[in-house]
Amino acid sequence: MNENVLLFDVKKGIKLMADFDNNRFQSKNQEYATPWGLFKVLDDEFHFTLDVCADNKNHKVDTYFTEQDNALTQDWNGVCWMNPPYKDMKKWIIKAYNESVKNNSVVVCLIPARTNTSWWHDYCMKGEIRFIKGRPKFEGCIHGLPQPLAVVVFGKQYKNTYKSVIF
Ligand SMILES: C[S@@+](CC[C@H](N)C(=O)[O-])C[C@H]1O[C@@H](n2cnc3c(N)ncnc32)[C@H](O)[C@@H]1O
Repeated sequence: MNENVLLFDVKKGIKLMADFDNNRFQSKNQEYATPWGLFKVLDDEFHFTLDVCADNKNHKVDTYFTEQDNALTQDWNGVCWMNPPYKDMKKWIIKAYNESVKNNSVVVCLIPARTNTSWWHDYCMKGEIRFIKGRPKFEGCIHGLPQPLAVVVFGKQYKNTYKSVIF
């Protein structure tokens, strides 16, 4: 199903809900960096070796891919950190899952908890999901992000488990 589809009252022909991604919840800035406090808790646990979505200023790990490298076309080895641009979430989640299977990597994803999408059910639910309680404040932002977030972990020892976490 196309998650961007608009919902209509078929009898009256009126729009019932705004476009979920394009109106209310899509971040205006796709470059928002992960809060260092949140990242540190996860880095202390996982010891990341690759940041797959970064630029020369916001990378969280010394080894990283940028938009020019296009991580979607690269192999992801080791322990990977992924805070992707929120557009094209489906592509990023499919890539993260496939790389964890293909390369036996661990991929830790900080993503919007869009629990009604096909990519959430088909991919995220194969991993370990940590639902974030509260609104993490991204680097350079005054307020916490209002949309629900989750950390999803893909890797052979992280399967089908769910918990609530606070950063
Ligand atoms: C939300 S920021 C995350 C930055 C940093 N990794 C962090 O966690 O704070 C997403 C980053 O992905 C980069 N990006 C966009 N498209 C990409 C691509 N195809 N391959 C790799 N990085 C990409 C953006 O330039 C941006 O710096």
